[in-house]
Amino acid sequence: MRRAARARAAIAAVVLLAAAPARAELPPALQALPAATRVDAALAELGRQLFFEPRLSGDGSRSCASCHEPVRGFADGQPLSRGYNGTEYFRNAPGLLSVRLKTRLTWDGRLDGADLATAVRDMVTEAHFMNADARLVQERVRQIPALMQAWRRAFGDASEPYGPRLFAAIAEYLRTLDAPDTPVDRHLRGERVALPPALREGLALFHGKAGCARCHHGPLGSDGRAHRLGVPASPAVSRDALRMITLLRHHATMGVPGYMDEREDLGGYVVSKVEADRGRFVTPSLRMLTHTAPYLHDGSLATLEEVLDFHLRGGGAGSELAPVALEARERAALLALLRALSPPLPAYPQALPQDYAALPRGRR
Ligand code: HEC
Ligand code: HEC
Repeated sequence: MRRAARARAAIAAVVLLAAAPARAELPPALQALPAATRVDAALAELGRQLFFEPRLSGDGSRSCASCHEPVRGFADGQPLSRGYNGTEYFRNAPGLLSVRLKTRLTWDGRLDGADLATAVRDMVTEAHFMNADARLVQERVRQIPALMQAWRRAFGDASEPYGPRLFAAIAEYLRTLDAPDTPVDRHLRGERVALPPALREGLALFHGKAGCARCHHGPLGSDGRAHRLGVPASPAVSRDALRMITLLRHHATMGVPGYMDEREDLGGYVVSKVEADRGRFVTPSLRMLTHTAPYLHDGSLATLEEVLDFHLRGGGAGSELAPVALEARERAALLALLRALSPPLPAYPQALPQDYAALPRGRR
């Protein structure tokens, strides 16, 4: 194994040298946030109004913001997400700040980060999220004058509401939701910043002895891949018939063989059907975490201290993590780094639902 890996590395090195003689392979590291991306302002404004619009759900009871609350870093503060009326979900709702930088979406990575609009469509139409029919929603939008104005500013005077365009508008709004820049980012960009010694030590441990950067790297602190930390199966899911029904329905939709006997969250296995991917979940972002508690795919840990200690213990059964022994000062330095990646939330302007047009009854 070792020798094969070395041989592969040697070949890779030769190929790399041949292709780009000046570039050496760098170890994975936390990176600074990139600059804001260019968006179509009219489209993003329409998307913002739609994000807060409850009539995008079947019975008008909830908007995207019901489960992705701006004041909670666009998470919902619950261990497990509530579902649409009469359903419950089996996972934690992730925060959405800087979601545009994700390569894989959802905890099992079933959706492509390059295609945010498809994730938005699933949120609107899935029975356990908003349970709305896209064609019904487009007719509702047509009857809301304020939304129609925003629609026409985005798509032109002759344009009529249409599901795929509606999802694209919300996706454009999501692209504007960047986590704020921090002193750590400025330091990582090579700017001269007076970073407190604890943060310097935290960064050194993160990339060194604590081994965090192996999975938590790039601008979000996520490699976009699925790993197994051995988080025990959630009793809150197995004890709750409504959550279990949604989980089994998820396994059925994803074509899991013998799904009725699979009563635990299988993570990435549902996508690949490869045994080794059982219980693997996509590495979450490390941005804005102080706003998005509780943590992990099942929301089972309430504080960052607990999450760090779980990692340092080497996780649970079958975990990919090796235990790491840290002194109290070093543990505090890592926590300081995690907190430094969570600056205060800016105010996100919300949109109030607008009235339907008063339609004269009985007229043709
Ligand atoms: C009923 C609660 C609920 C509602 C309403 C809801 N979401 Fe979600 N959202 C979730 C949960 C839970 C997940 C994680 C799903 C999973 O991992 O299986 C999620 C995941 C996402 C993701 C992927 C994030 C990531 O980091 O992988 C995006 C993007 C998203 N939602 C956007 C939206 C938008 C836009 C709307 C409105 C159209 C919306 N959501 C409505 C609960 C909700
Ligand atoms: C083997 C890859 C790997 C390594 C190494 C690793 N993590 Fe994680 N981390 C993950 C995965 C995967 C999750 C989500 C697990 C789940 O929900 O089942 C996670 C979750 C987290 C969370 C919770 C985030 C949230 O939104 O729920 C924090 C905080 C965190 N890790 C910090 C760290 C720190 C600090 C280190 C170094 C001590 C570290 N991780 C090392 C893969 C890793």
